[in-house]
Amino acid sequence: MPHNRLEDLLPGDSMQDRLIEKLIAGNRSWANEIKARDPEYFTRLSREQRPMCLWIGCSDSRVPVSQALGLAPGDVFVHRNVGNIVSHTDLNCLTAIQFAVEFLRVEDIVICGHYGCGAVTAVIEDQRLGLGDYWLHGIRAIYDGLQEKLKTLGDDQGHEYVCEMNVLAQFYNICRTPIVRDAWDRGQRVSVHGLIYSISDGLLRDLGLHVSAADQVAAIMQRSQA
Ligand code: CO
Repeated sequence: MPHNRLEDLLPGDSMQDRLIEKLIAGNRSWANEIKARDPEYFTRLSREQRPMCLWIGCSDSRVPVSQALGLAPGDVFVHRNVGNIVSHTDLNCLTAIQFAVEFLRVEDIVICGHYGCGAVTAVIEDQRLGLGDYWLHGIRAIYDGLQEKLKTLGDDQGHEYVCEMNVLAQFYNICRTPIVRDAWDRGQRVSVHGLIYSISDGLLRDLGLHVSAADQVAAIMQRSQA
């Protein structure tokens, strides 16, 4: 599906003034194109939601979810936040996980980080962000725990390593939610996977983090931190 840049759709004086018009024009063109190919598409989609997985990723605008996966509306249930963090005190993220696991019955949860993550940069550079300092506290703790390893890496490599270790930490947090543990306890099929996306080449990388039972979690954590 061709993706039209908003500014090409309607020539405007400024992006700000005409933003909503452009958004609506972009939406019309997208919906019309789909309906031209498949007139029943939206009618079918409106009947039910059966996504193939729950995707938890960063809010970063350069990490498109459905487009990067080559998927369509209805395929992925998505939760995004700054730094792709899964916190056991974040009602928003926990609600998304519970809804996906218990109501949509997704069998796969993907936690996807990305290289070049601004949340990781903020931590590494010790930027003061206000509320963001609280939100990113978990990544700071990860970073502080990696100081010995980071001495052996260059700046870019070190940044990438912290991004990967953040995925590992959030992967662990998902596996340890009572939502996922209860699903496993009652025999429901749920697998958790950790991936990382590279903005610079548009490719996903498998971090080798895959679990589908509670007793696999400790082993994968030990192996990944070694
Ligand atoms: Co990010």
